[in-house]
Amino acid sequence: MSNYHIKHLEEYYQVYRKSIREPENFWEEVAEEHFMWQRKWDRVLSWDFSRPEVKWFEGAQLNITENCIDRHLATRGNKTAILFEPNDPKDDAEHITYNQLYQRVNQFANVLKEQGIKKGDRVCIYLPMIPELAMAVLACARIGAIHSVVFAGFSATALSTRINDSDCKMVITSDGSYRGAKTIDLKGIVDEALNDCACVETVLVAKRIHSDIQMTSGRDKWLQPLLDNASTDCKAEVMNAEDPLFILYTSGSTGQPKGMVHTTGGYMVYTAYSFKNAFQYRENDVYWCTADIGWITGHSYIVYGPLANGATTVMFEGVPSYPDFGRFWEIVEKHKVNQFYTAPTAIRALAKQGLELVEKYDLSSLKVLGSVGEPINEEAWHWYNDNIGKKKSPIVDTWWQTETGGIMITPIPFVTPTKPTYATLPFIGIQPALMDENGKELKGNQVDGRLCIKFPWPSMARTIWGNHQRYKDTYFSAFENKYFTGDGALRDEVGYYRITGRVDDVIIVSGHNLGTAPIEDAINEHPAVAESAIVGFPHDVKGNALYGYVILKDVGETRDQDNLRKEINQIITEHIGPIAKLDKIQFTQGLPKTRSGKIMRRILRKIAHKDTSNLGDTSTLLNPEVVQDIIDNAF
Ligand code: PRX
Repeated sequence: MSNYHIKHLEEYYQVYRKSIREPENFWEEVAEEHFMWQRKWDRVLSWDFSRPEVKWFEGAQLNITENCIDRHLATRGNKTAILFEPNDPKDDAEHITYNQLYQRVNQFANVLKEQGIKKGDRVCIYLPMIPELAMAVLACARIGAIHSVVFAGFSATALSTRINDSDCKMVITSDGSYRGAKTIDLKGIVDEALNDCACVETVLVAKRIHSDIQMTSGRDKWLQPLLDNASTDCKAEVMNAEDPLFILYTSGSTGQPKGMVHTTGGYMVYTAYSFKNAFQYRENDVYWCTADIGWITGHSYIVYGPLANGATTVMFEGVPSYPDFGRFWEIVEKHKVNQFYTAPTAIRALAKQGLELVEKYDLSSLKVLGSVGEPINEEAWHWYNDNIGKKKSPIVDTWWQTETGGIMITPIPFVTPTKPTYATLPFIGIQPALMDENGKELKGNQVDGRLCIKFPWPSMARTIWGNHQRYKDTYFSAFENKYFTGDGALRDEVGYYRITGRVDDVIIVSGHNLGTAPIEDAINEHPAVAESAIVGFPHDVKGNALYGYVILKDVGETRDQDNLRKEINQIITEHIGPIAKLDKIQFTQGLPKTRSGKIMRRILRKIAHKDTSNLGDTSTLLNPEVVQDIIDNAF
């Protein structure tokens, strides 16, 4: 398998150079040798970042599910494709083989068709981490419907915004979900959301917690009886390489969430290729990514990337703390997990617990550890390396984004020497550039700037659903002819990259991207609130937590401040979800503003960081006097 599995550093450089010098030849070879196409492409790549327009494998036809399922049947039919580990450890795990996956996905696809879903229709999936979630995603792909998975921790308002933005015809959900010792009324949330969604005709409901829910007649249907009656054969729809595969929403620093559109051919090639190399997956390994399929990590590295390689991918329904903080390690031992991929926030939460919860379990199956979603701090890196990897399993600190579709900067395990807190080297085919504030590229090593990518890669998002102009403005306008990531990074003396964090108004809390503007909009809905500003501050488990500065309408407001704080967090929970709740809320008389009326977040950030020694020049402020007042009353 030429070029497909990189085995040593020399080879990495060799393959990397080829992928940069002859990108079209390189990706053509990968696509040619390792996938099933119904028709080959007329052209490997056409692109123009000024429009921006990017097309990979134009003219090719395929169905990604044939690559993820059908073609494995002859050799891997009885191999476990999805290994489902339920919330409650007392319940049995479920091993779904490739043969069973084929049947179940086809049945699901037939149900979608019977319910009137056609190629190009949007289907919103709002499900917990149960097998139906993976099946629903693949069933959509089977018939060419565009799935839009919404993480099942989002609120009714957040859900309805996403459903309406992409005009979904159907919602697939469950009666509820388990989350540790708690249950969540998912169907109730869907019902509330659908009060505002005229586009939805059908709701399919999976049974999970057997709760008593309301079914709206004519609209809501139980999924299982429909599946039971459906045929296990469903011809895969013929898709063009550039047909949309899915929409996935990500927060922007302003306005509505952005529905990132990923297309079929390039996404498949890149996620499969990067999965194989970034985790050094070998046949019969058991791979586990702890993310939720509601995020891009789950799309690319629980579902598509692993299944395109015929891998065994674990799907875990529960949380790391239930029934206790040893759960992850118990699962690693139980299923003899070989590659384990999680987020720094989980590592930090687990590192706070006693080591006996780790030492109880046999972790000797582990070969590769992964990290994703936010910078991993040095302490967490060492804890992970020492106690979980026992210093023998390389940590792949993988930097990427919803927009990039796949891993962009990462060590290749056993190939790239790792360095704590560094995502190290660009993955094959990826051409990063660091830019200074004046738009000049910083060449050479030991530089620090804004991270851009200067050449297209196959899995990049092609547009924002319904708003190509916003796609252009957000990603292709800051620096000419380059994709701007929104992150800052430095390149060290050997060319390793370290991601230093967001340079825009997106804050990453427990690995989740949160835009400040939507949270401020939610807070401002509170009748007592006049204005607000959100910044991030360091938190030992979440990475960042949110600090809100809130101006009340009535300066003489006499209501209990703690109650007001609770109400504000309640509004945020309703509009976005509990992940966006504020850790600190400071009521203030004013916010520092420039003469043009812009809030000076830099100052608020410093106060929240308890770093008030050097606030910079505040004399240009419209209202410099509020700064001291805010400092005096800060937490
Ligand atoms: O700031 C970077 C951070 O997460 C952002 C992307 O978030 P999202 O689209 O939700 O995708 C997360 C999962 C791929 C990036 O702009 N980020 C992601 N991975 C890392 C990271 N920051 C530092 N190191 C990482 N490994």
